[in-house]
Amino acid sequence: MNKPRDYGDLARVDRTHVSLYTDPEVFHDEMERIFYRSWVYVAHDSEIPNPGDYKTTFIGLVPVIVSRDLAGKVHVLVNRCTHRGSTVCPTEKGNANSFVCPYHGWEFAPDGRLVTVGLPKGYNEGEIDIPKLGLREAAKIDSYRGIIFASLLEVPDITLEQKLSGIRPVIDLYMDLSPVGEVVVGQSGVYKHPYHGNWKIQTEGSVEGYHAIFTHQTALDVMARKMGAFLRGFQNSGLKGRDVGYGNNVLEVYKLTDEQVHQRWPKHYIDMLKEAHGEQRAMDALRNRFNLVIFPNFAILEYQFRVIRPIAPDFTEVRIYHTTLKGAPPDINLKRVREHEFFYGPASFGGPDDYAAFDRIQEGFKAQMVPWVHLNRGYLSEQTDAQGQRIGDLTQETQQRAPYYEYRRLMARAEG
Ligand code: FES
Ligand SMILES: [Fe+2]
Repeated sequence: MNKPRDYGDLARVDRTHVSLYTDPEVFHDEMERIFYRSWVYVAHDSEIPNPGDYKTTFIGLVPVIVSRDLAGKVHVLVNRCTHRGSTVCPTEKGNANSFVCPYHGWEFAPDGRLVTVGLPKGYNEGEIDIPKLGLREAAKIDSYRGIIFASLLEVPDITLEQKLSGIRPVIDLYMDLSPVGEVVVGQSGVYKHPYHGNWKIQTEGSVEGYHAIFTHQTALDVMARKMGAFLRGFQNSGLKGRDVGYGNNVLEVYKLTDEQVHQRWPKHYIDMLKEAHGEQRAMDALRNRFNLVIFPNFAILEYQFRVIRPIAPDFTEVRIYHTTLKGAPPDINLKRVREHEFFYGPASFGGPDDYAAFDRIQEGFKAQMVPWVHLNRGYLSEQTDAQGQRIGDLTQETQQRAPYYEYRRLMARAEG
């Protein structure tokens, strides 16, 4: 048997080893130790609002169904027939009274119970134990402001409340862009972008403040012309990257002055938010734009939920769901769609360039004689605030280092 890997040595505080992005055994360990035994994003409430609604997704490699049962309770069910293994739900989204396996007709309720089997008389007494053959269910499910997380095999060693403790204020700001404090996710469908690279390249890349003026030069020029000069001045912008704990992190993308808020958003929307949340809170929500990562597989960028689906060490699918602000005026939601399309759509000026860069990074990783990926920009000047959060400047790499504190913790924990 091979010696267990020392993940503390491979994922150092200021650099990561290339094998973390390329080695199938590392990928296997990540699935077992991170994806199957800790909090992983699965869905948003608004995707399954009614009894019988479901969506299918993945926890790591495992296909799951996020389903709302007929009493309204959410379940995360393993999409694997307990007879001989077929998935029981082939579609991505819908409403169903039951999931029927295509192979021998076993039928499962939206809460996972096995209801009936095909041709039941062929089973002799003692051959089948119906109550024990329901779909396997995630060990733990919890949610915050409609964002649903699950842990597949074990109750995680921290509660979701702990896991989100540092990032809750930022999620709250995001939700309060809606006058009722809620978003609707994926109303216009989902945009899937596969890339030939490791999943952590996207985790790091969702909060990348250094690359934008190089990778997105054209998009930024156009945006500066359309949206004004506040996008300029990256190096001394005063914007920060923040490690908010448990692998989660935030990148401030811009902070508007009150005057810029009024240039950017129409008065009727600003007034509506002030009415709903109070002046201070409304302005805080409108002023701040940020990207955030909830480790390991979830990010929020201004107009989207972004879900990272690892498929192989060098292959990942990203699912991008546009978010609509519940209760906001239609012109505001339309403006959000247009700006989202501009930067992140399939034929846009922004997102596709990132994926081209990710492919090239993985290609470069084939040069294994160059072993380290450097994440040390700003490491020596990094500050820690009163809450113990690490802070660096926008273009530094505090936020990219953040996931690896949790990575080391989870990867080491299972070795004992
Ligand atoms: S494999 Fe599902 S019913 Fe047989
Ligand atoms: Fe980018």
